[in-house]
Amino acid sequence: MAKPLLATVRGERQGRPPLWIMRQAGRYLPEYRAIRETVGTFLELCYTPELAAEVTLQPLRRFELDAAILFSDILVIPDALGQTVRFEHGEGPRLEPITPDGLGRLNADGVVEHLAPVFETLRRVKADLAPDKTLIGFCGSPWTVATYMIAGRGSPDQAAARIFALRHPEAMAQLLDLLVDASAAYLIAQLEAGADVLQLFESWAMNIDERQFAQLVIEPNRRIVKAVRAAVPDAAFIGFPRGAAGLVPAYVAGTGVNAVGLDYMMPIGTADASLPAALPVQGNLDPLRLLAGGEQMEARIEEIIAGFAGRPHIFNLGHGIVPETPIGHVERLVEIVRRGR
Ligand code: CP3
Repeated sequence: MAKPLLATVRGERQGRPPLWIMRQAGRYLPEYRAIRETVGTFLELCYTPELAAEVTLQPLRRFELDAAILFSDILVIPDALGQTVRFEHGEGPRLEPITPDGLGRLNADGVVEHLAPVFETLRRVKADLAPDKTLIGFCGSPWTVATYMIAGRGSPDQAAARIFALRHPEAMAQLLDLLVDASAAYLIAQLEAGADVLQLFESWAMNIDERQFAQLVIEPNRRIVKAVRAAVPDAAFIGFPRGAAGLVPAYVAGTGVNAVGLDYMMPIGTADASLPAALPVQGNLDPLRLLAGGEQMEARIEEIIAGFAGRPHIFNLGHGIVPETPIGHVERLVEIVRRGR
């Protein structure tokens, strides 16, 4: 049976936009919180295939979504490279910050082996997934992952990593090379384990100028796409350069992704006018509209569907769903999108 979401990534327009929700498996679901409580740490959940597969499938049991996204995290790559990664309760990730001198301690050789439980999760999900549902694999893009590796945590302006890139360009290039190689190997193994589509999360594509954008964002993503397609020629990619604004067209042209995810700051008209007419887009409802719900949410959903009706479109949020989102609002979103145009 055909997979409408995969077909859309490959360039086919549908009668209604297929739908998934960034961070659709997570804390807004009571059944996720129940499983989360049974394990000690978040990484343990990511590395326990039985539980990770269950959590991946939870949102599809509740809502009529068109895709499941692998339950894992972008920071399993630094963990697999040998950096210390912890998730503090309610505070976000904490890593032991990497320095130019410490790069030699990272080791890409064991990445695929270390991440074997993730591939087992994908095989289990695939076996349980209806044939019309798309299975999405993913990784963090090298620059975004590097921002966490260098600062040791999330930051509003990524200043530590930006300064590192400017003061130590060779060390930065070495780190990005390592992440490109590790990520490409990781994604190839995800495809072999059953992923239908791969999303590249460049969550911190903002705050850098066009020269750094070309070097730190476009080039590493281009190399991942190329390396994965050297092994799997028809590998399908959704690139999500969050905050890239006026650089989104350059990102699309430079990386070779099949489809692009748009954040909620991107005006529909600007995206439509500046991107190739046949390019599939994904997005771009503000997650806080979903949280608040009601008339404003419904009007904006309709506006997004109508605005992208002329090209292949996957409905999604413009960033991840927030934990406080009422489930009834998600039900309403799904109902409106499934009604179609
Ligand atoms: O449902 C899905 O989308 C699949 C699973 C998924 C998670 N993280 C689970 C998760 C995916 C695709 C991600 C991607 C991710 N992780 C990104 C890129 C997307 C984005 O939001 O920009 C980033 C930057 C991360 C790093 C990360 N992981 C942070 C900053 C945090 C803490 C903040 C937060 O939202 O909690 C995490 C933890 C995390 N990853 C949780 C989940 C469900 C919550 C941890 C918990 O349940 O204890």
